[in-house]
Amino acid sequence: IDHVFLMKRDPIIAIDGPAGSGKSTVTKLIAKKLNFIFLDTGAMYRALSWYLLKEKINYENHEELNSFLSDISITFQSFTGSNQNVIINDHNVTEKIRTQKISSIVSSIASIREIREFLVKEQRKIGEAGGIVAEGRDIGSKVFPNAELKIFLTATIDERAKRRKNELEAMGQGTIDFKKLKKNIEQRDFDDYNRKISPLVKAEDAIEIISDGYQINEVVEKILEIYYETIPKELQL
Ligand code: CDP
Repeated sequence: IDHVFLMKRDPIIAIDGPAGSGKSTVTKLIAKKLNFIFLDTGAMYRALSWYLLKEKINYENHEELNSFLSDISITFQSFTGSNQNVIINDHNVTEKIRTQKISSIVSSIASIREIREFLVKEQRKIGEAGGIVAEGRDIGSKVFPNAELKIFLTATIDERAKRRKNELEAMGQGTIDFKKLKKNIEQRDFDDYNRKISPLVKAEDAIEIISDGYQINEVVEKILEIYYETIPKELQL
């Protein structure tokens, strides 16, 4: 009961983990089930990467980068729907940000301090009122350290590469070279785990779920079960 007086906002669920662990699918389903906002922070890093390339911005140059960032707006069309559009300054980049080209540069762009500070601020604005399930690399550790529920979702590299191959092929990206894709994911994992600012890390109070051998809906059920156990009933939306 005391929680009611302490809580200034609706609950926040943070889901972090490496590439291809199933975060996006799981997060979308949980958002739908709880009627929460769904926030794919990776899509924001991908959208910025796409736009930096398109505009040929020299992002190593701090002044050039800052002036670029001061003009950026990233929005999502339909926060709760399962097919959410990602818009950056009037460009609908929903599909363009899923290419191997973007996947291979996004981690290095995500390691830049100005970029992270900009996006974390945007993410906190979106999550201000709570009632949100956000997925990424630093949600529980940095963006929403006070999240009521933190999940660290992983799977073995082979399982993750297999899932991503199926996903990309289902999107219509042609036959994907498994070895190349696996290497790309391993490189991205390495970069994400080892960067100086907000590396991918399991927050101390996060619950780890290893999803090998589990169906998506089993993982969703597990997380919802933990949610209902963790969040006082009167605060559940
Ligand atoms: O969907 P996938 O697991 O391939 O990755 P993503 O969630 O779309 O994120 C793409 C990249 O953005 C990651 O590899 C990270 O380098 C970066 N990222 C980040 O640094 N912090 C976040 N909160 C989310 C993504």
